Order: sequence, then C-alpha cells, then structure tokens
Amino acid sequence: MDRKYWETIAPKYETEIFDVLQNDVSGSIVAAIESMASPEKTIIDIGCAVGKWMPVLAPKFKMVIAADISAKNLQIAKEKYTDFDNIEYHRMDMSADDLSVIPCDAAICINAILTHSLEKRINFFQSLSLCLNAGGELVLVVPSLESKLYTNIIAGRWNVDDAENDKLPEPKKAIDLFKNIKQGVTDIDDVPTKHYLKEELELLLGLEGFDVQAIKKINYDWKTEFHKPPKWLKEPYPWDWMCTAKKK
Ligand SMILES: C[S@@+](CC[C@H](N)C(=O)[O-])C[C@H]1O[C@@H](n2cnc3c(N)ncnc32)[C@H](O)[C@@H]1O
Repeated sequence: MDRKYWETIAPKYETEIFDVLQNDVSGSIVAAIESMASPEKTIIDIGCAVGKWMPVLAPKFKMVIAADISAKNLQIAKEKYTDFDNIEYHRMDMSADDLSVIPCDAAICINAILTHSLEKRINFFQSLSLCLNAGGELVLVVPSLESKLYTNIIAGRWNVDDAENDKLPEPKKAIDLFKNIKQGVTDIDDVPTKHYLKEELELLLGLEGFDVQAIKKINYDWKTEFHKPPKWLKEPYPWDWMCTAKKK
C-alpha cells in the first residue's frame, strides 16, 4: 500500500473503499470530533483521501488542513468542496523520514495507517505526534484485529458465504500470509492491511507521547463483512477501534 496504490485507487475510490463516515451509524466519531471542536482551533485530517470528513470539519474549526499522500485524491477533494474557504490541501507522506509540518490543535486520522510495512508504520505514528501542538487532541480510527479474527471464526464455524470452499493459497502466498498475520497484517480484498489490537494501539500511542483517553468500538453491520450473514447473527457486531488521545 504505497503511494502508487492510492493514486491508482483514486478514480474509483467511491466504489472500492469502505466509507467509515456513512457506516458509523452510532455517530461516535462525529461526536468525538465535536467534543474537541472550536472556531479558534486548527485541525488536520491525516489521510483525508477524497475529503469525506470536510463537511464535518470545515464548519466547526477555524482552519482545516486536508493531508494525503495521493495528489489525485486531494484534487478530487479540492474540486468537490469549493463551498469552504478554510481548507488547505497538502500532499504529504506521513511515512517519510523527514516530514515537515505546521502542527495543529487537533487531528483526525481515519483508517489511514494501514500499510503492511512496519518501518512505514513506525514513521507514521511518529508523524502523528509532529502534526499536533502540545495538548493537541487526536481521533484515530484503525481496523481491529480482534474483529477480523472473530469474523473469521464465525465464517469457519457456520460456513458463512461458503467459507469451506475458499481456495487455498499457493505456497508462496501462504508463506506471506503466515509472516503477515504474526504482525497483525491480514488481507482485505487481497490487499495486506494492518489490523490492530486494543492493547497495541495504547502502547504505540503512549510511546509517541500521547495520553490515551479512551478506546472504543465503532460497530458496523454484519453486511459489511458477509454477503449473506446468518439471520441470528447479531451482537457483537464487527468493529474498528476509535481512540481519543491528547499529546502531552
Ligand atoms: C482508506 S483511506 C481513508 C480515507 C479517509 N480518512 C476516510 O475516512 O474517508 C486511506 C487514505 O490514507 C492515505 N494514506 C496512506 N498512506 C499515507 C501516508 N503515508 N501519508 C499520507 N496519507 C496516506 C491514502 O492515500 C488514502 O487516501
């Protein structure tokens, strides 16, 4: 999942990429953003893609920096949200070794730290801290490894979507899958994607100088995981982790 991947996805972003804002029916992420919002504060949307969060952020903050590694994504966002005059679009690579950024008072980073590369993730987490002033607040959303495993267990036990007939991987792919899962990296639509444990998230943010305030589930419908979820399958629903944290 490098820059090239995201540039290629950009023109078909709406059909290919899961929409967190639409699917968070609880409104918990919007509520977390509202609780840190102020017309005196600046906010950065890290990995903003085509800018879905702009209509939530722009009316509530003094200034929004929409940041993404993909120039095409940023261009799509820029053309879409011409009504707002307080958004700046910045192309930046949060995994770069030498990131220079003007720190903001608040940040959101929603399903953007997905790369299978440990080195790139280490840099990305360090950059999160660089993006914020001391005392600045962060809303971070990432895929949950617990949820992914729970989904796999349900699929295997009740043969959901004919899981028994899933094709076995070729030997080379099987070795990659094995190495990846040890690091919490597991495929979404054949793309190796980092998933996180709750405890891991707490540790990673603590190491970068954040006080973790809360980690909670963002629940989604079972239809986001299965074509045909069993009718009896209810709670717990599949989830991402949302973490709210403050830079010390
Ligand atoms: C799944 S999309 C999330 C989009 C958006 N946050 C949302 O909730 O609608 C992930 C985004 O992260 C961006 N991204 C991935 N790696 C990045 C990096 N190293 N630096 C900046 N942006 C990155 C991608 O270009 C992509 O637009």
